[in-house]
Amino acid sequence: PVRLAVFASGSGSNFEAIVRAFQTDQINAEVALLVCDRPDAFVLKRAETLGVPSVAFRPKSFDSKEAYEQEVLDHLLGASIDLVVLAGYMRIVGNTLLKAYPNKLMNIHPSLLPRYPGKQGIVDAFEDGATQTGVTVHIVDEGIDTGPILAQETVAIEPDDTIESLERKIHAVEHELFPKVIQTYIKKLQKEHA
Ligand code: GAR
Repeated sequence: PVRLAVFASGSGSNFEAIVRAFQTDQINAEVALLVCDRPDAFVLKRAETLGVPSVAFRPKSFDSKEAYEQEVLDHLLGASIDLVVLAGYMRIVGNTLLKAYPNKLMNIHPSLLPRYPGKQGIVDAFEDGATQTGVTVHIVDEGIDTGPILAQETVAIEPDDTIESLERKIHAVEHELFPKVIQTYIKKLQKEHA
């Protein structure tokens, strides 16, 4: 089976949606590891409940970004991870990981990229007065929220929406879309290797 690692920094609702989808769907793949860069993040509790092994790091306690990523990479290799997905991982991926997983790193972003990249895509679209925004899943490259787009889904911003209601709508779309796109990508990789 394809072994997947999820990277997350916060609540982990996408992590949970991915794990549950992989448990119920017919796919020769499993979520084998959670990597977290905030030892107090709620996603670690979800991993424990769901029975997914996890590792947590304090990037600031390393001498450099390279040293941090090398430590993460050692865990990925130790767990024989084939594919990495970023699900609310609020950190720019550096060369150490990019080189080790070329085209094997995927990210979800809460906007229709290239609009509203960065750390607060939902708030930025809302405050800009946009009438629509959405969700993008893409392959990670060295840029911030750039790289080949795998899928996008539009979410309307209605006049009576608040940031909270918009967040709920976006998350609901993410939880459906992300597991599907990951599974489609895994099937594509499996065909290439067959
Ligand atoms: C998600 O909305 C994800 O798209 C976003 O963080 C949230 C994490 O929620 N990612 C980014 O903004 C990346 N630039 P979760 O922890 O509940 O899955």
